[in-house]
Amino acid sequence: MTETINVITICGSLRKGSYNAALAWQLPSLAPSGMSIKAAPAWDKIPIYNFDIQNSSGFPAEVTAWADAIRSADGVIIVSPEYNWSIPGGLKNAIDWVSRLKDVPFKDKPVALQSCAGGVLGGARMQYHLRQCLTSIDAHLFGKPEILVTFAPKKFDEKTLELNDQPTIDIVKQQLVGFEKYVRRVSGKH
Ligand SMILES: Cc1cc2nc3c(=O)[nH]c(=O)nc-3n(C[C@H](O)[C@H](O)[C@H](O)COP(=O)(O)O)c2cc1C
Repeated sequence: MTETINVITICGSLRKGSYNAALAWQLPSLAPSGMSIKAAPAWDKIPIYNFDIQNSSGFPAEVTAWADAIRSADGVIIVSPEYNWSIPGGLKNAIDWVSRLKDVPFKDKPVALQSCAGGVLGGARMQYHLRQCLTSIDAHLFGKPEILVTFAPKKFDEKTLELNDQPTIDIVKQQLVGFEKYVRRVSGKH
């Protein structure tokens, strides 16, 4: 019998009507049968990184909870907007915090990326910055297919935020199938 792959999603947007959050919450319904997908704990209460905080009172509880969830997952899917051609500051800050832990949770962790953006590039520049940043802490970045949801407002239902663009749904499903295989290869879980 095959073991279920446990994946967590991290969303880079805190906005109530976020397209990235909407995509993240719809992933369980698009996942192959061997993959379970749950949301990671929130990162929005993590303070701005300061070595003095780490040094005086240790790692904040929100940081260790986030790190524990990443550590215990078989794989991570980051679904994030692009801010000013790069990674949203809050998400980068959370990654910076966990990178200072002794047992860095992203080490050897399979990670897939997805982004939704209002424009024509779909968050591509943010994804390449995330690839660079996560490679520096020894994560394993999944390659193709890439999920870059361009002109996001046209691809989600205006009221329910349900993803209603069939080519996008199809490619997201393809990525999840490929990511399941990749996670099994990297983690050795069969
Ligand atoms: C601070 C800020 C910077 C942004 N910079 C970019 C950008 O560099 N590239 C881009 O495609 N969209 C950019 N946008 C627009 C986002 O793609 C758009 O607001 C998107 O809907 C945000 O994702 P969300 O719906 O998940 O919150 C920016 C938005 C904000 C708030």
